[in-house]
This record gives sequence, C-alpha cells and structure tokens, in this order.
Amino acid sequence: MIGNRPQFIKAAAVSSHLRQCADETLVHTGQHYDHELSDVFFEQLEMPAPDHELGVGSGSHAEQTGAILCRLEPLIDELRPDALLVYGDTNSTLGGALVAAKAPVPLVHVEAGMRSGKLEMPEEINRLVVDSLGNLLLCSTETALQNLREEGRGAQAVVTGDVMADVALNLAAKARRESDVLERLGLDPGAFMVATAHRPGNVDQPEHLELLVELLAEAARIAPVVFPVHPRTGIRLEQAGLREGLAGRRIKVIEPVGYLDMTMLVLSARAVITDSGGLQKEAFLASVPCLTMRHETEWVETVDQGWNRLIGLNPSAVPTAIRDLPEPGNPSPAADIYGRGKAGERVAAAIAEWLAAS
Ligand code: UD1
Ligand code: UDP
Repeated sequence: MIGNRPQFIKAAAVSSHLRQCADETLVHTGQHYDHELSDVFFEQLEMPAPDHELGVGSGSHAEQTGAILCRLEPLIDELRPDALLVYGDTNSTLGGALVAAKAPVPLVHVEAGMRSGKLEMPEEINRLVVDSLGNLLLCSTETALQNLREEGRGAQAVVTGDVMADVALNLAAKARRESDVLERLGLDPGAFMVATAHRPGNVDQPEHLELLVELLAEAARIAPVVFPVHPRTGIRLEQAGLREGLAGRRIKVIEPVGYLDMTMLVLSARAVITDSGGLQKEAFLASVPCLTMRHETEWVETVDQGWNRLIGLNPSAVPTAIRDLPEPGNPSPAADIYGRGKAGERVAAAIAEWLAAS
C-alpha cells in the first residue's frame, strides 16, 4: 500500500523483487495526487500502475485517516490478501495498519523501528502504532532494530537495509545521463545549494516559516539556493506573504521536481538543506553535506559519519556547518550502512520466507 511521494520511491525498490515471489496488488490511497508528487514517480521509476486508487486526497489527520479506513476496509475484505505491506510513517501507513490489524490480515512494515522520540511529530505517532501492530517489521538499519528490541518487538524484526537507498544508488547514473535540470535552471555544479522543507513544525506557524526563510537567505549568501517547494510549504509561504521576497534573496523557488531532477540536484549541490528524511540519506549517499532543519534525526548514521548536521531553524548555524562539514565528494560514504542497494531484494526474500513459515 502506498500513498505519498516517499512511498512511491520505496515501493519502486521492492515491487519488482516482490513480484518474483508473490502476486502484488498495489493500492494507492491518493494522499498525494498532484502529477509532480505522484504520477511522475511512477513514470520515472517504471512502477506498475496501482491496481486500486482510494482517492482520499487532502484533509485533517482525522479526515485523511478516516477516509483511508472507510475505503480500504471493504477492499481488504474482498481481496483477503496473505499480508498487507505498508511503508514508512505517514497517514497512509497508519490507515493501512489499522485496517490490516482489524481485518485481520498479517501486517508487514517496511522502514520499521525509526524513532525520533518526539510525539509532536505526527509521523512518530504513526510509527509507534504501526510497529506495535506489525507481524513482520523490516528495518532499514541496526539502530531501528535496537529501537524495536527496546520496545519488546525485536522478535518480529529483520534488518534489510534501506529501500530508498537502493533507488538513490541505482538511479544516480541515469539521473546524470537524463536530467537537464542544471541547464534548465542555469546552475553550475558545486556552486548552488538545494533545499526542501515540509515538516509542519517548520512551516505551519508563520514565526517558524520566517526563521526558515532567514536560514535559507543565510545559506544563499554562500551560494544560491534552489528550493523545490512542497505544496504544504507553498501554501504557507503564500499565506504569510513570504513567497514574493525569496527571489531577491538568491532563493530560487520552483515547483516540486521529479526523482531524476532531484537526484541530479543533490549530486551536484554544494550542500543540501532539508527537513526531509529521504533527502538526508540521499545527500549522504551522494557524499554531499547536509544541514538538517531539525533537532533530532531518525537517520543518526548520517550525523555519526560526519555528513549531516542538525541545525534546527537557526540561521546563524549555517556558515559554521558549511565550514565544518566535508566538501562534496570526499570521503566516500559508507553505503553499507543502508544496504548497498540490495534492500528491496532482502525485503522480498524476508517476506517470502515469513509467508512460507506462517
Ligand atoms: C505527508 C506525510 C509526511 C511525509 C510527506 C512526504 C502525514 C501525516 N504526513 O506530509 O510524513 O513526510 O507527506 O512528502 O502523512 N497537497 C497538494 N497536493 C498533493 C498533496 C498535498 O497540494 O498532491 C497539499 C494539500 O494542501 C495538503 C498539504 O499539501 O493539505 C499537506 O499534504 P498531506 O498529505 O496532508 O501532508 P504532507 O505535508 O504532504
Ligand atoms: N523529492 C523529489 N522531488 C522534490 C522533493 C523531493 O523527487 O521536489 C524526493 C527526494 O529525492 C526523496 C523523497 O522525494 O527521494 C523525499 O520525500 P519527502 O521529502 O516528501 O518525504 P520524507 O522523506 O521526508 O518522508
């Protein structure tokens, strides 16, 4: 089951392997629906089209999760699958897990065990519920496995590596070949930064959004910033009247880009500035320094390895972080931490083995 941008990427790493050992029926909740947040990933990652679309769209947490429950339950009753597979930590993940648990249908969770320790993050609530219900918990890292052990869920857990890392590693060469994003935006490799932001804690309150803009402006003093804007953030910038002024501060606001363009931007950037989970890993795997606009991260390895610094929304931390972090390309990242591009294969193998044993 999938529903939003990072999940299309995660499923792209798993689907082809899973289909070699099982019949996969792909359900798209419709949580993300704009072409540049959804269809573009199916096209670029050569994903099979969803078999079922629930069309839930946007809304409050209750509206979105409730719509998933109401629309998924009859489908699961009709399909009666051997298992329901969910990815990550979004409302689509939560909705899928609740329906599976009550159907009941065995539940498999990819990217299990990630923890920030912050219940203020809606994703953390989703993770705790999904992992407490999951029958097979597939972990991206040893840290995630350890988190599950501490919660008494280690017996259900297997470390597979990170499926998003598979896609980043496997598509880097294709992005270099096919993306013309640098030419289109007039960017020189190594002479710009790329930024994304969408965490409610960073963008939903005007005072936080103002700090975020200040932080990007501080970075733009060092090198121009390209900012593909998530729709949540786009709406908030408009509401706060902040969008207009960005161009004058060397911050180039663009619509969200497809996977190949984003990968090319990351591979070519002087640094990545983000609050995205996926981008912290992608910067790390590309040996590009990352400034994370949060106070904690689930991807602790990127910090431990010296490629990521947690700067919250503190504009004055930007120059120091850029000075202290390594320059792009050197040293090479320790890709084995995230599975060396083999996680999708291991996820499919773990599911096949578990199904055979159950
Ligand atoms: C969601 C996930 C978040 C994940 C992110 C990936 C939850 C609680 N949050 O956040 O964990 O990191 O996706 O990007 O599940 N919108 C559009 N077009 C779309 C989709 C959304 O314009 O195709 C706008 C709507 O105004 C919507 C807002 O974006 O209200 C937020 O979308 P939503 O799906 O609620 O949460 P995200 O911020 O995308
Ligand atoms: N991404 C993309 N285009 C964009 C922004 C992000 O292709 O304009 C990709 C990015 O490379 C990563 C994924 O989307 O693979 C991350 O998704 P997002 O930041 O929305 O969610 P998170 O990872 O924080 O859950």
